[in-house]
Amino acid sequence: MIEVKNLKKSFGRKQVLRGIDFAFEDGQTTVVIGPSGCGKSTILRLILQLIKPDEGEVWVNGINIATLKRQEELDKYRSQIGMVFQSAALFDSLKVWENVGFMFLENTRMPRDKVKALAEEKLKLVGLEGSGDLFPSELSGGMQKRAGIARAIAQDPKIILYDEPTAGLDPVTSTVIEDLIIDMQTRLDGISIVVTHQLSTIFRTADRITMFYEGKILDTGTVEEMKHSSNDTVRNFLEGKVVAP
Ligand SMILES: Nc1ncnc2c1ncn2[C@@H]1O[C@H](COP(=O)(O)OP(=O)(O)O)[C@@H](O)[C@H]1O
Ligand SMILES: [Mg+2]
Repeated sequence: MIEVKNLKKSFGRKQVLRGIDFAFEDGQTTVVIGPSGCGKSTILRLILQLIKPDEGEVWVNGINIATLKRQEELDKYRSQIGMVFQSAALFDSLKVWENVGFMFLENTRMPRDKVKALAEEKLKLVGLEGSGDLFPSELSGGMQKRAGIARAIAQDPKIILYDEPTAGLDPVTSTVIEDLIIDMQTRLDGISIVVTHQLSTIFRTADRITMFYEGKILDTGTVEEMKHSSNDTVRNFLEGKVVAP
């Protein structure tokens, strides 16, 4: 389980997170929603400890991650988490399989042919069998996203974080990615956290939704509960009405 306690984060004078308390439950996909700039990507970066909170704590499987000081400890911690970045963030100069196996090529002595076999196996899971020898520029946007997911699952993480996985994709490709998110969660039976403001992605992938607004959590619940939230802002957001940040 991932638990965040009284999480606060400002950038300059802008208070982005003003005290977030939340538990991301094991075995569930939690979708984090909210208007642009409300701190959705920020919380993912805090969970990965790419940035540190001003106040508050992140606990993962009983460990306060602020206590992970040594680089090896942090690397080990991060290896349990797969991150799918908003832009696929693939290295253009590396082949697709090298991108997927990057952590192994970089941080282990695993022979290249072994890494390649492992990468091909992950590519197969995301429907990119046989694309390993291509370069990212030879893939469509949707295929790049899938390659990003293959890279995120390379180390068999128990936690996968997705930052706007379907942003900018056409509806058909979005559906493919949503199916993959569901499939990966079934497979890993851990924690998936999906940050998105795309309605189809919210409704199709969420076991639970939590809405951030003005640095706080407005409401949390299942899709049905949130559609009937007592909070107007939550209901408006889920009806696709514009919610001012
Ligand atoms: N490293 C940073 N430096 C300054 N401002 C930042 C930084 N990261 C995020 N912000 C600001 O914090 C706010 C929240 O950002 P973010 O978490 O990316 O929002 P979201 O993902 O919900 O759209 C935005 O106003 C953004 O400009
Ligand atoms: Mg974002």
